[in-house]
Amino acid sequence: LPHSRKKGLPHYPHTQRRLPDCIIIGVRKGGTRALINYLNLHPDIVTAPEEIHFFDDQQNYSKGLSWYRRQMPYTFSDKVIIEKTPNYFVDDKVPWRIHNFSSSVKLILIVRDPLYRAVSDYTQIRERRLGQGLEMEEFEELAFNGEEEVSVDNVRTQYPAINRSLYSYHLTKWLRYFSLSQIHIVDGDNMVRDPVQEIKKVENFLSLEHKIQKDWIVFDRTKGFHCVKPDNKRYRCLNKTKGRKHPRIDPDVRDILNDFFEPWNQQFFNLTGRTFRWPK
Ligand code: A3P
Repeated sequence: LPHSRKKGLPHYPHTQRRLPDCIIIGVRKGGTRALINYLNLHPDIVTAPEEIHFFDDQQNYSKGLSWYRRQMPYTFSDKVIIEKTPNYFVDDKVPWRIHNFSSSVKLILIVRDPLYRAVSDYTQIRERRLGQGLEMEEFEELAFNGEEEVSVDNVRTQYPAINRSLYSYHLTKWLRYFSLSQIHIVDGDNMVRDPVQEIKKVENFLSLEHKIQKDWIVFDRTKGFHCVKPDNKRYRCLNKTKGRKHPRIDPDVRDILNDFFEPWNQQFFNLTGRTFRWPK
């Protein structure tokens, strides 16, 4: 019988904890949880149960690779091990730290329409604050420098929800250490529409056979997103913190922000040699 030293991580005979072969580096609110859950359906993929925050958290990082390895599940040697920590993408010190760990590790980045992502990011923080009985400004107030006219030139690029959507700015830091061929980019908007199509591309990137079956991923009308039903396992949707209702954003503000993101998006398309259908 398997014995477990840590909850949720059974230790079968002939299994070991190994460092990850692939890291989902972000982006936060891109659909990282859905992505790793879909990938977990693959019989040759094993995923870390939680966000590890090894490369971005100084306290964790100082515990060294042996600590990092201990956060991984026990696996047979032929499995592909994946961890995700969405904050890695935007943290300046992480690209070289990961490169230092492994120059050949595979990286996955999932992106969405930058304005949608920014509002999703804002909505998450707003819900937490309101839950703690705190107040929260409107998105429109946070996204622009106060007192001044609401315009493309007054967008607060340092506001984290906006900043994390400047994909080209962050990707540039990664491309100093990794070639583009090592970073697979998942189209998060397309993954919402057609998860299997995006998952197939990830299977290719990981040099795995296509084993994630179309009928394991089904659209749930009530949830408004896809849920999973692998053979002989229970039907599961992501919890209510994934797929939240977003507050309405003033249409003029939307237009201004879309204009603001446009050159950043263009730069991202140039860097990646791909185009994404933004604004959606
Ligand atoms: P919203 O809750 O703002 O809609 P992350 O896991 O990186 O935090 O991303 C969360 C986002 O994943 C959600 O943002 C949602 O839009 C998106 N998503 C994609 N596929 C999903 C799915 N199958 N179930 C729930 N949310 C999904």
